[in-house]
Amino acid sequence: MRIPFIAGNWKMNTTAAEAERLVLEMLEQLDRIEGVEKVICPPFVSLVGLSMMLQSSSIGLGAQNMYFETKGAYTGEVSPLMLRELCDFVILGHSERRWYFAETDEVVNKKVKTALTNRLKPILCIGERLEENETGKTEEVVSRQVTAGLNGIEPVSGLVIAYEPVWAIGTGKAASGKQAAATIQFIRDVVAKLWNKNIAQNIRILYGGSVTSANIAEFISHPEIDGALVGGASLNAEEFTSIVERTAEIKGRAK
Ligand code: PGA
Repeated sequence: MRIPFIAGNWKMNTTAAEAERLVLEMLEQLDRIEGVEKVICPPFVSLVGLSMMLQSSSIGLGAQNMYFETKGAYTGEVSPLMLRELCDFVILGHSERRWYFAETDEVVNKKVKTALTNRLKPILCIGERLEENETGKTEEVVSRQVTAGLNGIEPVSGLVIAYEPVWAIGTGKAASGKQAAATIQFIRDVVAKLWNKNIAQNIRILYGGSVTSANIAEFISHPEIDGALVGGASLNAEEFTSIVERTAEIKGRAK
Protein backbone atom coordinates (compact mmCIF):
# COMPACT_ATOMS: atom_id res chain seq x y z
CA MET A 1 0.00 0.00 0.00
CA ARG A 2 1.55 3.28 -1.13
CA ILE A 3 0.87 6.31 1.08
CA PRO A 4 -0.45 9.18 -1.05
CA PHE A 5 2.00 12.04 -1.40
CA ILE A 6 1.43 15.74 -2.08
CA ALA A 7 4.40 18.08 -2.41
CA GLY A 8 4.34 21.83 -2.92
CA ASN A 9 7.12 23.23 -5.09
CA TRP A 10 7.31 26.92 -4.29
CA LYS A 11 10.00 27.51 -6.94
CA MET A 12 11.68 30.96 -6.72
CA ASN A 13 8.86 32.54 -4.73
CA THR A 14 8.58 33.92 -1.17
CA THR A 15 11.18 35.70 0.93
CA ALA A 16 12.00 34.01 4.25
CA ALA A 17 9.44 36.20 6.04
CA GLU A 18 6.75 35.50 3.42
CA ALA A 19 7.48 31.78 3.60
CA GLU A 20 6.92 31.75 7.36
CA ARG A 21 3.68 33.66 6.96
CA LEU A 22 2.45 31.23 4.31
CA VAL A 23 3.26 28.24 6.48
CA LEU A 24 1.49 29.85 9.44
CA GLU A 25 -1.61 30.24 7.27
CA MET A 26 -1.80 26.54 6.45
CA LEU A 27 -0.04 24.85 9.35
CA GLU A 28 -2.92 23.98 11.63
CA GLN A 29 -5.32 22.68 9.01
CA LEU A 30 -2.70 20.86 6.98
CA ASP A 31 -1.17 19.25 10.02
CA ARG A 32 -4.51 17.65 10.94
CA ILE A 33 -5.02 15.85 7.61
CA GLU A 34 -4.20 12.17 7.93
CA GLY A 35 -3.41 9.50 5.38
CA VAL A 36 -1.39 11.75 3.05
CA GLU A 37 2.31 12.53 3.23
CA LYS A 38 2.60 16.32 2.94
CA VAL A 39 5.83 18.00 1.90
CA ILE A 40 6.67 21.66 1.31
CA CYS A 41 9.65 22.60 -0.86
CA PRO A 42 10.48 26.27 -0.24
CA PRO A 43 13.57 28.14 -1.49
CA PHE A 44 16.86 27.17 0.25
CA VAL A 45 16.98 30.31 2.41
CA SER A 46 13.70 29.37 4.09
CA LEU A 47 14.64 25.80 5.00
CA VAL A 48 16.19 26.71 8.35
CA GLY A 49 13.24 28.79 9.54
CA LEU A 50 10.60 26.38 8.29
CA SER A 51 12.38 23.32 9.68
CA MET A 52 12.01 24.86 13.12
CA MET A 53 8.37 25.79 12.55
CA LEU A 54 7.47 22.33 11.28
CA GLN A 55 9.53 20.33 13.75
CA SER A 56 6.66 18.86 15.72
CA SER A 57 4.18 18.75 12.84
CA SER A 58 3.25 16.05 10.33
CA ILE A 59 4.45 18.25 7.46
CA GLY A 60 7.76 17.39 5.84
CA LEU A 61 10.26 19.58 4.05
CA GLY A 62 12.11 19.24 0.80
CA ALA A 63 14.68 21.27 -1.14
CA GLN A 64 14.25 22.16 -4.82
CA ASN A 65 17.74 21.25 -5.99
CA MET A 66 21.17 20.19 -4.75
CA TYR A 67 24.71 19.76 -6.03
CA PHE A 68 26.18 16.29 -6.60
CA GLU A 69 29.33 16.84 -4.55
CA THR A 70 29.20 16.91 -0.76
CA LYS A 71 31.67 19.78 -0.16
CA GLY A 72 34.45 21.82 -1.67
CA ALA A 73 35.16 24.75 -3.94
CA TYR A 74 31.79 24.99 -5.70
CA THR A 75 30.79 28.60 -5.16
CA GLY A 76 27.08 29.09 -4.82
CA GLU A 77 26.12 25.41 -4.64
CA VAL A 78 24.29 23.60 -1.86
CA SER A 79 25.38 20.19 -0.60
CA PRO A 80 23.34 17.18 0.54
CA LEU A 81 25.16 17.36 3.88
CA MET A 82 23.69 20.80 4.44
CA LEU A 83 20.24 19.74 3.35
CA ARG A 84 19.92 16.55 5.30
CA GLU A 85 20.04 18.44 8.60
CA LEU A 86 17.02 20.41 7.46
CA CYS A 87 14.86 18.23 5.25
CA ASP A 88 14.11 14.68 4.06
CA PHE A 89 13.38 15.26 0.38
CA VAL A 90 15.01 16.95 -2.57
CA ILE A 91 13.46 17.66 -5.98
CA LEU A 92 15.91 16.63 -8.69
CA GLY A 93 15.79 17.04 -12.44
CA HIS A 94 12.85 19.45 -12.49
CA SER A 95 12.21 20.51 -16.07
CA GLU A 96 13.07 24.11 -15.19
CA ARG A 97 16.52 22.88 -14.08
CA ARG A 98 16.86 20.77 -17.20
CA TRP A 99 15.87 23.51 -19.66
CA TYR A 100 16.96 26.80 -18.04
CA PHE A 101 20.09 25.47 -16.34
CA ALA A 102 21.10 22.82 -18.87
CA GLU A 103 20.96 19.86 -16.47
CA THR A 104 21.51 16.68 -18.42
CA ASP A 105 20.31 13.17 -17.58
CA GLU A 106 23.91 12.43 -16.47
CA VAL A 107 23.96 15.34 -14.03
CA VAL A 108 20.54 14.36 -12.68
CA ASN A 109 21.81 10.79 -12.23
CA LYS A 110 24.82 12.01 -10.21
CA LYS A 111 22.50 14.08 -8.03
CA VAL A 112 20.13 11.16 -7.40
CA LYS A 113 23.12 9.00 -6.40
CA THR A 114 24.58 11.59 -4.02
CA ALA A 115 21.19 12.34 -2.49
CA LEU A 116 20.56 8.66 -1.72
CA THR A 117 24.03 8.05 -0.30
CA ASN A 118 23.42 10.99 1.99
CA ARG A 119 20.01 9.80 3.17
CA LEU A 120 17.95 12.33 1.25
CA LYS A 121 14.94 11.04 -0.67
CA PRO A 122 14.93 12.28 -4.26
CA ILE A 123 11.76 13.40 -6.00
CA LEU A 124 12.98 12.64 -9.52
CA CYS A 125 11.15 14.73 -12.12
CA ILE A 126 10.69 13.55 -15.67
CA GLY A 127 8.42 14.55 -18.53
CA GLU A 128 8.23 15.21 -22.24
CA ARG A 129 8.11 18.54 -24.05
CA LEU A 130 5.19 19.63 -26.21
CA GLU A 131 6.79 18.70 -29.53
CA GLU A 132 7.80 15.31 -28.14
CA ASN A 133 4.23 14.74 -26.97
CA GLU A 134 2.80 15.77 -30.32
CA THR A 135 5.13 13.50 -32.24
CA GLY A 136 4.29 10.48 -30.10
CA LYS A 137 7.62 10.38 -28.28
CA THR A 138 6.34 10.57 -24.69
CA GLU A 139 7.16 6.97 -23.75
CA GLU A 140 10.56 7.11 -25.41
CA VAL A 141 11.46 10.31 -23.51
CA VAL A 142 10.26 9.26 -20.05
CA SER A 143 11.81 5.84 -20.45
CA ARG A 144 15.16 7.44 -21.31
CA GLN A 145 14.92 9.88 -18.40
CA VAL A 146 14.09 7.16 -15.85
CA THR A 147 16.70 4.74 -17.16
CA ALA A 148 19.44 7.40 -17.24
CA GLY A 149 18.34 8.99 -13.95
CA LEU A 150 18.52 5.66 -12.10
CA ASN A 151 21.57 4.30 -13.90
CA GLY A 152 23.90 2.43 -11.53
CA ILE A 153 21.60 2.91 -8.55
CA GLU A 154 20.52 0.04 -6.27
CA PRO A 155 16.73 -0.40 -5.95
CA VAL A 156 15.25 1.83 -3.20
CA SER A 157 11.60 2.21 -2.34
CA GLY A 158 12.10 5.67 -0.77
CA LEU A 159 12.52 7.25 -4.18
CA VAL A 160 9.60 9.32 -5.47
CA ILE A 161 9.10 9.97 -9.19
CA ALA A 162 7.12 12.94 -10.51
CA TYR A 163 5.78 12.73 -14.04
CA GLU A 164 5.48 16.31 -15.19
CA PRO A 165 4.80 16.90 -18.87
CA VAL A 166 6.71 20.13 -19.62
CA TRP A 167 3.77 21.53 -21.63
CA ALA A 168 1.53 21.25 -18.57
CA ILE A 169 3.80 23.08 -16.11
CA GLY A 170 2.59 26.57 -15.23
CA THR A 171 0.41 26.71 -18.33
CA GLY A 172 -3.01 25.96 -16.87
CA LYS A 173 -3.17 23.14 -19.42
CA ALA A 174 -3.02 20.00 -17.29
CA ALA A 175 -2.84 16.55 -18.83
CA SER A 176 -6.01 14.49 -18.57
CA GLY A 177 -6.18 12.05 -15.66
CA LYS A 178 -6.40 9.18 -18.11
CA GLN A 179 -3.34 10.32 -20.07
CA ALA A 180 -1.33 10.85 -16.89
CA ALA A 181 -2.37 7.48 -15.43
CA ALA A 182 -1.33 5.65 -18.59
CA THR A 183 2.11 7.28 -18.70
CA ILE A 184 2.59 6.69 -14.97
CA GLN A 185 1.76 2.99 -15.41
CA PHE A 186 4.30 2.92 -18.23
CA ILE A 187 6.92 4.53 -15.94
CA ARG A 188 6.18 1.94 -13.23
CA ASP A 189 6.76 -0.81 -15.80
CA VAL A 190 10.09 0.77 -16.78
CA VAL A 191 11.16 0.79 -13.10
CA ALA A 192 10.04 -2.85 -12.76
CA LYS A 193 12.25 -3.87 -15.66
CA LEU A 194 15.16 -1.76 -14.48
CA TRP A 195 14.94 -2.79 -10.81
CA ASN A 196 12.23 -5.28 -9.90
CA LYS A 197 8.47 -5.59 -9.73
CA ASN A 198 8.27 -5.45 -5.98
CA ILE A 199 10.16 -2.16 -5.65
CA ALA A 200 8.27 -0.72 -8.62
CA GLN A 201 5.00 -1.48 -6.83
CA ASN A 202 6.22 0.36 -3.73
CA ILE A 203 7.54 3.51 -5.36
CA ARG A 204 5.29 6.54 -5.38
CA ILE A 205 4.76 8.15 -8.75
CA LEU A 206 3.14 11.58 -8.83
CA TYR A 207 1.59 13.72 -11.51
CA GLY A 208 2.63 17.38 -11.82
CA GLY A 209 1.61 20.23 -14.11
CA SER A 210 -1.16 22.78 -13.44
CA VAL A 211 -2.68 20.82 -10.55
CA THR A 212 -5.31 22.77 -8.60
CA SER A 213 -8.04 21.97 -6.09
CA ALA A 214 -10.43 21.91 -9.05
CA ASN A 215 -8.65 19.13 -10.97
CA ILE A 216 -6.80 17.11 -8.28
CA ALA A 217 -9.63 14.57 -8.09
CA GLU A 218 -9.23 13.76 -11.77
CA PHE A 219 -5.68 12.59 -11.11
CA ILE A 220 -5.77 10.89 -7.77
CA SER A 221 -8.94 8.96 -8.53
CA HIS A 222 -6.68 6.81 -10.74
CA PRO A 223 -5.02 4.10 -8.62
CA GLU A 224 -1.84 4.43 -10.71
CA ILE A 225 -1.32 8.04 -9.55
CA ASP A 226 -0.05 8.35 -5.97
CA GLY A 227 -0.30 12.10 -5.57
CA ALA A 228 0.91 15.36 -7.05
CA LEU A 229 3.77 17.79 -7.26
CA VAL A 230 2.02 21.14 -7.10
CA GLY A 231 3.65 24.39 -8.23
CA GLY A 232 1.59 27.58 -8.49
CA ALA A 233 -1.36 26.32 -6.42
CA SER A 234 0.94 25.44 -3.51
CA LEU A 235 1.59 29.16 -2.92
CA ASN A 236 -1.99 29.62 -1.78
CA ALA A 237 -2.69 28.19 1.68
CA GLU A 238 -6.35 27.47 1.02
CA GLU A 239 -5.71 25.88 -2.37
CA PHE A 240 -2.89 23.67 -1.15
CA THR A 241 -4.80 22.55 1.91
CA SER A 242 -7.82 21.68 -0.15
CA ILE A 243 -5.68 19.68 -2.62
CA VAL A 244 -4.37 17.63 0.31
CA GLU A 245 -7.87 17.27 1.79
CA ARG A 246 -9.34 16.00 -1.49
CA THR A 247 -6.48 13.54 -1.80
CA ALA A 248 -7.06 12.21 1.72
CA GLU A 249 -10.79 11.82 0.99
CA ILE A 250 -10.50 10.11 -2.38
CA LYS A 251 -7.54 7.86 -1.59
CA GLY A 252 -9.08 7.04 1.80
CA ARG A 253 -12.29 5.92 0.11
CA ALA A 254 -10.38 3.76 -2.38
CA LYS A 255 -8.66 1.77 0.36
P1 PGA B 1 2.59 24.08 -11.73
O1 PGA B 1 4.08 23.53 -11.50
O2 PGA B 1 1.71 23.35 -10.76
O3 PGA B 1 2.66 25.54 -11.45
O4 PGA B 1 2.21 23.76 -13.14
C1 PGA B 1 4.35 22.19 -11.22
C2 PGA B 1 5.83 21.97 -11.05
O5 PGA B 1 6.61 22.60 -11.76
O6 PGA B 1 6.27 21.16 -10.22
